[in-house]
Amino acid sequence: MSSGRRSNTAFLVAVVLGLLASALPSNAQQDEIEVADFGVGFIVSLGGKLYDNLWTATAAKPPAHRNPAYPPVPEVNDADTWRCVSCHGWDYKGIDGERAVLGRHKAFKDLRPLADNDPKSIVDKIRNSHPDIPDDAIPDSVLEVLAIFISVGMYDRDALIDDTNRISGDRDRGRDIFEGACMNCHQPDGRMPLRGEKGDRSSLGWIARNRPEQAVHKILNGVPGAEMLAVGFLEPHQIVNLLAYLQSLDPDEK
Ligand code: HEC
Ligand code: HEC
Repeated sequence: MSSGRRSNTAFLVAVVLGLLASALPSNAQQDEIEVADFGVGFIVSLGGKLYDNLWTATAAKPPAHRNPAYPPVPEVNDADTWRCVSCHGWDYKGIDGERAVLGRHKAFKDLRPLADNDPKSIVDKIRNSHPDIPDDAIPDSVLEVLAIFISVGMYDRDALIDDTNRISGDRDRGRDIFEGACMNCHQPDGRMPLRGEKGDRSSLGWIARNRPEQAVHKILNGVPGAEMLAVGFLEPHQIVNLLAYLQSLDPDEK
């Protein structure tokens, strides 16, 4: 990734501070946070990218050593042990959740009960729950954006995806969205080369069938360090239709 893009994102984080100040006055009540509001929608998707990989989404560097709180799973590299998603999952449910790409551990905590909680209390919880993350590793501004994401940005996995990973939506309507908003980049068969996560196939169809939670999180919030459209503004039924169509792409790539 170019350093130019990194500093752009660092700049965006600085801009978000200004947005935050106007969107969330110090006495902000929960009901003042509206995902539909453009400014807050932008902050939420930035929070989703920070949750995915805050080291790629900002200019900050992860600690140089492995996170001692992460289990000794050799296939997970040291930097990835500091990603929120590595422990809490693409569905935010920790140990109770999806078959995580990056490995899981029984101590990892379900974040879903924090949905709709006051972001300020979530900031305190993040600070207090991770003794291994050095206090100065994550700036307060980044924690605030993460807390807003946890409060209002986490999608409800069980409302979208069934137990067999299927998403039942209207594929024809999903195709309309794909052709209008995604195909230029991802190509008609969804096989634009993807960096993705370790072990993944470079195929949107494969990702949507095998890693649906990861696909939904990245579609709603975008991908840190990548020129990817975030479509968190779509209605849940549109997301379901889009995912149903993605699951039908490239069927030979099991
Ligand atoms: C190495 C694994 C690991 C990583 C990385 C990690 N967490 Fe956690 N997190 C945990 C564990 C374990 C707990 C539960 C701690 C406890 O109960 O004392 C927790 C607790 C939390 C809580 C409090 C949950 C509650 O209900 O009290 C929040 C919020 C949270 N994490 C958010 C984050 C965010 C945001 C990130 C990324 C900046 C992150 N976590 C990174 C393992 C991790
Ligand atoms: C401007 C180009 C662009 C558009 C438009 C776009 N994407 Fe992407 N998308 C990307 C890039 C770049 C990546 C990151 C690829 C990588 O990881 O190397 C990506 C990543 C993804 C991923 C994550 C795959 C993984 O590795 O986990 C999914 C899922 C995805 N896009 C779906 C969509 C959908 C659905 C749409 C339409 C609503 C869309 N994208 C629109 C460029 C785009």
